Amino acid sequence: PAAPPASEVAQMDWDALETAVAGCVKCRLCEDRTRTVFGVGDRKAKWLFIGEGPGRNEDLQGLPFVGPAGKLLDNMLMAMGLSRTENAFIANVVKCRPTGDDGRDRPPAPDEAAACMPYLQRQIELIQPAILVALGKTAAVSLLGLPADSPVGKLRGQVFEYRGLPLVVTYHPAYLLRRLTDKGKSWADLCLAMNAYAGSR
Ligand code: URA
Repeated sequence: PAAPPASEVAQMDWDALETAVAGCVKCRLCEDRTRTVFGVGDRKAKWLFIGEGPGRNEDLQGLPFVGPAGKLLDNMLMAMGLSRTENAFIANVVKCRPTGDDGRDRPPAPDEAAACMPYLQRQIELIQPAILVALGKTAAVSLLGLPADSPVGKLRGQVFEYRGLPLVVTYHPAYLLRRLTDKGKSWADLCLAMNAYAGSR
């Protein structure tokens, strides 16, 4: 089956986009997936949170951030007065689970992220959020076009611009679960984002 070219994706409405993602064969990640993970949330959300890609649980359920990292993300949303269904949308850079030869989760390769980017780009256009939050390095470097080894510690704490939208980078919730001492920094990033959001209105 043919994968739609980016120019076609850029014209799609929500239903067409969901269908295209569900059947996508643009990169090798389609070979091992159980389900695609389109994203979840309020289609009119002002806040768009962007993770890396589905892990094992997400691949099985077809929903983003359903494991322990997702619980933490839910708590972060709650602390901001948001939820999965109210004023927030949760998406990923790649819609299929990347796994290594050992069958374990891995970050998407740059070509996989690039192949999937038109879908995320179209999601951003359709949702029209007021602000983007990049959860972790993969989202940050993919959206901002930075070198793959840019540390989140160097990217957080400032407001970037992505196609006219404020973008704040913070640690990935899965990383925070391993490094509870960085939770405070992540909260500071979210406060920075809330200020940028308030300033953009
Ligand atoms: N990690 C991510 O980056 N995204 C998910 O959907 C789940 C875990």
